[in-house]
Amino acid sequence: MKLNKVLPKFKGLYFFLKRMKYKWMGWKFDQPADRIIQTASTTFFDRHPDLFQAVSELAISNPNLSILSFGSSTGEECQSLRKYFPNAKIVGAEINADSRKKAIANNADERIQFIDSVPSKINENGPFDVVFALSVLCKNPEAEYAEDLSSIYPFATYEKMVNELHGYLKVGGWLVIRSANYRFKDTAINNNYQLCSPAGMREPIEFPKFDASGKKLKGFLESEEIFQKIK
Ligand SMILES: C[S@@+](CC[C@H](N)C(=O)[O-])C[C@H]1O[C@@H](n2cnc3c(N)ncnc32)[C@H](O)[C@@H]1O
Repeated sequence: MKLNKVLPKFKGLYFFLKRMKYKWMGWKFDQPADRIIQTASTTFFDRHPDLFQAVSELAISNPNLSILSFGSSTGEECQSLRKYFPNAKIVGAEINADSRKKAIANNADERIQFIDSVPSKINENGPFDVVFALSVLCKNPEAEYAEDLSSIYPFATYEKMVNELHGYLKVGGWLVIRSANYRFKDTAINNNYQLCSPAGMREPIEFPKFDASGKKLKGFLESEEIFQKIK
């Protein structure tokens, strides 16, 4: 029987077990449970070529960029970024120590480093010209089954993390968010940004999105992904 047919009947239990998983991961990686966002470590080389290309064009006048990949998993995202940003300093911040170890073991590039996702450590390496938060500000597949996300991923937790990312970014720099469960435009800090996703970058895709009260937005198509910090 398919998981998505069985799950609605056991949603309460499923979300309870997921909450236990966030707590367990928080304990294992010595982090508060609400800093464990996406638990899956899925990644692959050149996963977001449209975004990487668009940002490299926006930042063309600055060849010596400093880039943060927040939620860098096993490192493929940082290694892919090198292709688009040949001279950049690239820092991958990853909360899962097992993934981080793999990223470090596979890295031969001295201008790429992988660090624990602890604000003080990220700040030591910042501020950054670009912050990528791709497939990390979400709870998937949990969000696919939720009509209300607030019990496992409240909007306040998303907004707190977005404010943290804002703090790592230089004025004039770009915050790039893909596959998040909430809309950046619903945060208060959005007023410090201008949207600059070039039109037609990719076909907008349907992704589980929720309003600031945690209610699912029906048929939402994600298209606003690149934001420039103006203050
Ligand atoms: C699905 S992977 C995405 C990897 C890559 N960004 C990509 O798009 O291919 C999400 C990663 O975010 C990490 N993660 C979750 N919460 C985090 C946090 N607070 N700080 C840093 N990494 C986090 C997870 O451990 C996981 O490796």
